[in-house]
Amino acid sequence: MDNSFFFFIYNFAAGSIIRCNVINWVQQRGPPNERVRHKPWAKGKLKQHSEIVISSPKYYSGEWHDVFNREAPLHVEIGTGKGQFIVGMAKRYPDTNFIGIEMHESVIVSALEKCLDAKVRNVKLINADARGLTEYFAENEVDEIYLNFCDPWPKHRHEKRRLTYPSFLAQYEYILKRHGVINLKTDNQGFFEYSLESFSQYGLTLRNISLDLHASDMAGNVMTEYEEKFSAKGQRIYRCEAVWNG
Ligand SMILES: C[S@@+](CC[C@H](N)C(=O)[O-])C[C@H]1O[C@@H](n2cnc3c(N)ncnc32)[C@H](O)[C@@H]1O
Repeated sequence: MDNSFFFFIYNFAAGSIIRCNVINWVQQRGPPNERVRHKPWAKGKLKQHSEIVISSPKYYSGEWHDVFNREAPLHVEIGTGKGQFIVGMAKRYPDTNFIGIEMHESVIVSALEKCLDAKVRNVKLINADARGLTEYFAENEVDEIYLNFCDPWPKHRHEKRRLTYPSFLAQYEYILKRHGVINLKTDNQGFFEYSLESFSQYGLTLRNISLDLHASDMAGNVMTEYEEKFSAKGQRIYRCEAVWNG
């Protein structure tokens, strides 16, 4: 064997070490703006747990009590993220059925893991875009909706993507029962102001508005992952409830 072979092996190994170190550094720093880290194993894990992750939600529209095997109030969280809130709520309110909707499988898989660890039986997860909401739920099927730390989409040209844009409110109106409630929490003042206006222009009644939730006397708040992160940095949390008069 000549020296060029050893030279090639040496260069290849050195290159791999440098590449690995760079990848580790990027992962340790954390990606900017919480970009979703791809987990290639997530799809398989979600499929393995079809007792929690419902793969054909349209099929159960109007029949969710059958999926839970009991009649109980139905609460839906949109943009569930990694599931801390929904699992915390499920433990606190065992007599309520909860459904979490999250579009990224690499994120919702963490919610699945939390459900499994906590052994909660009153949570189901849907890995889908909330734009299909009226296909997953029947008219007047849902009691409450939670919107926690939604992406604010601050640019005007992205307004239609905000989860409190009127086209989303029309979907919530359809699936919510009479006097159904939308619960909103956010750290983003601009998004909060936009949402208050959007709710009231749509004819919803606003109540329990807080401009600093953690300084308020509201009892029983269950924190989300984002809420913990933002409040640890000293940021205010805004909250309100919007109710349909029916
Ligand atoms: C900023 S994170 C907040 C996560 C969690 N609610 C929390 O407070 O920790 C927003 C989440 O909503 C999800 N999301 C945004 N738009 C969505 C949509 N149209 N349908 C389903 N999930 C959505 C995103 O993938 C992301 O995981």
